[in-house]
Amino acid sequence: MKNTIIMSIMLCFSGMAFAEPSSLVAYDKETRALIRSGSVENGQKLASSAKCKKCHGMNGLSEDEDDPNIAGMSATYIFKQLKDYQDETRSERSMKKAVRKLSDQDLSDLSAYYAAQEMLPAARATDVVPVLVHKGDSKRMVRACNSCHGQNGEGGEYDMPALNGQRSGYFITAMEEFKEEDRTNDIYWRMRDIAKELTDEEIEELASYYSAAPLEDEEEDGEE
Ligand code: HEC
Ligand code: HEC
Repeated sequence: MKNTIIMSIMLCFSGMAFAEPSSLVAYDKETRALIRSGSVENGQKLASSAKCKKCHGMNGLSEDEDDPNIAGMSATYIFKQLKDYQDETRSERSMKKAVRKLSDQDLSDLSAYYAAQEMLPAARATDVVPVLVHKGDSKRMVRACNSCHGQNGEGGEYDMPALNGQRSGYFITAMEEFKEEDRTNDIYWRMRDIAKELTDEEIEELASYYSAAPLEDEEEDGEE
């Protein structure tokens, strides 16, 4: 793992003709072994001592529309994101601070712990299933979301996250960030290329299909 990272950094500096890499994480043998070695028990302690629970809850469910739910996402996805924040290939101030002092083993333990928590069901709040979910749109070269994110949005292999039960505020922000290239840690531009093709209405529709029901206090805002 360390060697891979050092190599990538050296490559980065030695040839400025290279575009910056989207991520320094490769799911090589060593990294896969590290992720498999994650201890749920240690992860639980860290979730508390490293303050993750403040924003993601002990159960991986946040209490704010802008903080992502991470319960039940795959350990391979969670690990990559934590590493990306540490390497600053994904940037956000509170996450950068949260992972700064953690070792690779800590990140692996945290990934195992949050992966073992139960995700929320998707709200499926639109009457019709958006066409993009199962069909995509070949005219715009947009592949079906579920071809990568799982037949039912439950997540795919390695770096492909579950979309079900996500906070809709975070979901929409994530799509906008890919669209604007504010989030660039998706290897091979898989999400940036897609998000750029989508309209705001389509993004809203996809969010209400995949996301969890809105948090109660946000719902109450709309009530009399
Ligand atoms: C102060 C609040 C805060 C703390 C503390 C915090 N997070 Fe986060 N976390 C966030 C926010 C906000 C995001 C989304 C940031 C972005 O837009 O990139 C995030 C993103 C993530 C993601 C990526 C989720 C996804 O769907 O891609 C993971 C995984 C994560 N956090 C895990 C952790 C862990 C593990 C810890 C403890 C070491 C932690 N967080 C501490 C607020 C926090
Ligand atoms: C070619 C594969 C592929 C397709 C098709 C695809 N995605 Fe993704 N998506 C990814 C990958 C890979 C990531 C994670 C990138 C990373 O951070 O490493 C991702 C990330 C996301 C995220 C951010 C999740 C989070 O927790 O931060 C959202 C939201 C998302 N995709 C929605 C969609 C929607 C909606 C569609 C259909 C319009 C779609 N994706 C189609 C591969 C794909």
